[in-house]
Amino acid sequence: MCGIVGYIGQRNTKKVILQGLQTLEYRGYDSSGMALISKGEIIVEKKVGRIQNLIDSVEGKDLSSEIGIGHTRWATHGVPSDTNSHPHYSMDKSVAVVHNGIIENYQSLKKDLEEKGFIFSSETDTEVISQLIQDMYDGNILNTVKKALKKIKGSYAIGVLHKDHPDELICAREHSPLVIGIGENENFIASDVSALLEYTKEVYYLEDGDIALLKKGEIEIFDKANNLVHRERKHIEWTLEQATKGGFPHFMLKEIFEQPQVIEDTFNKRVLNGRADFSDVLTFEDIKKINKIYIIACGTAYHAGLQGQFALQKIAKLDSSTDIASEFRYSDPFIDENTLVIFVSQSGETSDTLAALKEAKRKKAMTIAITNVVGSTISREADKVIYTLAGPEIAVASTKAYITQITIFYLLALYIAEIKNTISKEKYLEYISEIKNMSEKIDSILKNSNEIKNIANLLKNKKNGFYIGRGLDYKIAVEGSLKIKEVSYIHTEAFASGELKHGTIALIEKDTPVVVIATQQELIEKSISNIKEVKARGANIITVGFNNEKNLEEVSDNFIGIPKCNDLFSGFLSIIPLQLLAYYTSIAKGIDVDKPRNLAKSVTVE
Ligand code: G6P
Repeated sequence: MCGIVGYIGQRNTKKVILQGLQTLEYRGYDSSGMALISKGEIIVEKKVGRIQNLIDSVEGKDLSSEIGIGHTRWATHGVPSDTNSHPHYSMDKSVAVVHNGIIENYQSLKKDLEEKGFIFSSETDTEVISQLIQDMYDGNILNTVKKALKKIKGSYAIGVLHKDHPDELICAREHSPLVIGIGENENFIASDVSALLEYTKEVYYLEDGDIALLKKGEIEIFDKANNLVHRERKHIEWTLEQATKGGFPHFMLKEIFEQPQVIEDTFNKRVLNGRADFSDVLTFEDIKKINKIYIIACGTAYHAGLQGQFALQKIAKLDSSTDIASEFRYSDPFIDENTLVIFVSQSGETSDTLAALKEAKRKKAMTIAITNVVGSTISREADKVIYTLAGPEIAVASTKAYITQITIFYLLALYIAEIKNTISKEKYLEYISEIKNMSEKIDSILKNSNEIKNIANLLKNKKNGFYIGRGLDYKIAVEGSLKIKEVSYIHTEAFASGELKHGTIALIEKDTPVVVIATQQELIEKSISNIKEVKARGANIITVGFNNEKNLEEVSDNFIGIPKCNDLFSGFLSIIPLQLLAYYTSIAKGIDVDKPRNLAKSVTVE
């Protein structure tokens, strides 16, 4: 949610900033801007709309500079406009600031500054930071920023320039992500490492309360108590190639097609000598203690959590429940030191999930993060972390991160089941090989994606629809429905098939599309009855089921077959056509599938 970049060094600064912003555009894309120091002045360029607008507007302009900051915005305070875009100047243009987060006390700070004669030009909370820095400036920009931040409440990752300090780039973080990229005689800042991969893989992750001073050949980091501190230098394994489209027209399609590989990578990391191994996060003693598991997350990660709950209950026989992070925090959950709370977050930065994690820790629960981003805030705050190996996920709609999250949950359930002795040896081996075989089965679904394109063409003009399923299939329906809402703007609702008749069936009329997921063998007859109920009211049925399910195929208008597997694991497969259906419907409607309206990939506000 909002991306920031900064650079100090001898490269073409304008280019480094614009490229960094393009990489971070998934974090927010309603407007963007940059500030550079040139000939003793700060030059700010900003534009509403996509980053391309900014690129077009600065083309040909001589903006040579050795220091700059940039920002891509997801509006919180003030509508998307040129004026509200970042960077924000202070009144006398001596200071420019980019900011990701929310300044909670900005109104009182603004009032005080206005009383002193400061005039504000935007509706943003951010502008108070630049004005405050101008007001408090004492000739030393690092010290001034330190003093100014003491007055600020809220969350921020900021980059600051002062016109009289063209060799000093200041940055700071509090509850919003920020990473420093270490170069040779040049340094970088960014909201996440993907923007740095082209230049360096050596980074420092800032911690809450840190303020850093970057010069070309020097980095100094100060903690909350103003001590000069040493943060651990980390090497990033992700490649630049992983963060580019690699021949696919869109990131979303590339990421859907990467799923066989990322399952394999995650599996190979966690399965040693044929056994799932999580001994680094859960010991035998921990497992004996657990009386309850909560799984907490938002969006697609929450849906992965629903499958995780299913796996933990069915395989590990552990009492588990899943909750939405923003609800869990206020629900006064019964948690003690024997409760395990698992937090799932692709980015590791989602504010709601982080706040829930803090609440669980306050109540002394054991906490584990399942996240994709090494060094992310949630990975550092949780007691233990399990990394998914999805590689950088750029498309706003999550696909490959989701599949790695469910891979982890199933393997974790097997690991616990083995220790708790809730599974036979034969079943254990059968289940491990079910997961191992998923990559190949997904590959075969991906090879037949053309038939899904045809169904997308039928859906593209629909305004509403339903996704229904029973048991595990319902959990997949929920994610399938979210996927198509996110990228095609068709309003769909997911329902437990058996529940539809208790009211919502009133909405079914001629040609209402109903996407049915029906893989659970003991429920198949009931699913067929549910299909008949809606069909009798005119619904058009698109079914995802195992190949050769003749009865199911017969009652469906369109049938998408997936390879047979043990139905405990069918979610790995049934989600794939639904992701493709969302993708192709979006493309058929001419939507920017990687950056759908109103969304941001990483939501760092509550
Ligand atoms: C946002 C994104 C979703 C994502 C959710 C949780 O809403 O648009 O795609 O699932 O955040 O993100 P996380 O990084 O915590 O998994």
